[in-house]
Amino acid sequence: MSTIKIFIIILVFLNSYTYAADKAQTLVDSKQKSDMTYKELMQIMGRSSLMVHQGILTQNRQMVKDGAYEIAHHKAPNHKPWLIMKTFQYQAFKDTLVEFDKQLHHIADAIIKVVDEEDWTKTQKAFHELTLTCISCHISWKSEAHPINPKQINSSNQTQHPHKHPTGDEMYRPPLKMLRDLPRRDIP
Ligand code: HEC
Repeated sequence: MSTIKIFIIILVFLNSYTYAADKAQTLVDSKQKSDMTYKELMQIMGRSSLMVHQGILTQNRQMVKDGAYEIAHHKAPNHKPWLIMKTFQYQAFKDTLVEFDKQLHHIADAIIKVVDEEDWTKTQKAFHELTLTCISCHISWKSEAHPINPKQINSSNQTQHPHKHPTGDEMYRPPLKMLRDLPRRDIP
């Protein structure tokens, strides 16, 4: 094989590799930034799915829709999600994120649509599909996650830290004036 052919093959390979890697970053960039870790984002996901469930049980269509909407439009964490995995797993987890985001969106939209038919059995079935999507990612990945190192939290990936003191102190201390202005309660 000529060198030029080998060169082209390498180029094509590299190109598809960076394209795949970029898809996960593009996905993260497309979401609204937040000040929470991936684990905290997952805690919200848990609450949102409970909301869908409770909405079905109480036949509250809006509650179902709000829960499903939150799942489909969740915010991005304050760090690159794949940092909770080991380096050699980054690419596989990135591919998973891209694939599962599509699936979650699809099912959440389906729930929002089907709930308007007021067919609660059908809505419950769609919710079951949603949960299956959640747990199929968990089966492969949940136990692989390790806590995020605070140093790896990328400040450019973050909007504003509400507890960060303007002086850069680690611990937030409210200004004294604020404490003084608090309404006083007389101790009996
Ligand atoms: C792309 C993979 C993926 C998908 C999809 C996913 N999760 Fe997770 N989830 C994870 C990982 C990884 C963890 C472990 C995070 C950690 O411990 O840092 C996790 C953890 C959780 C936790 C436990 C959080 C804690 O405090 O330990 C809950 C609850 C949760 N997910 C709910 C959901 C729900 C609900 C859905 C679907 C609507 C969902 N997840 C979809 C990957 C995923």
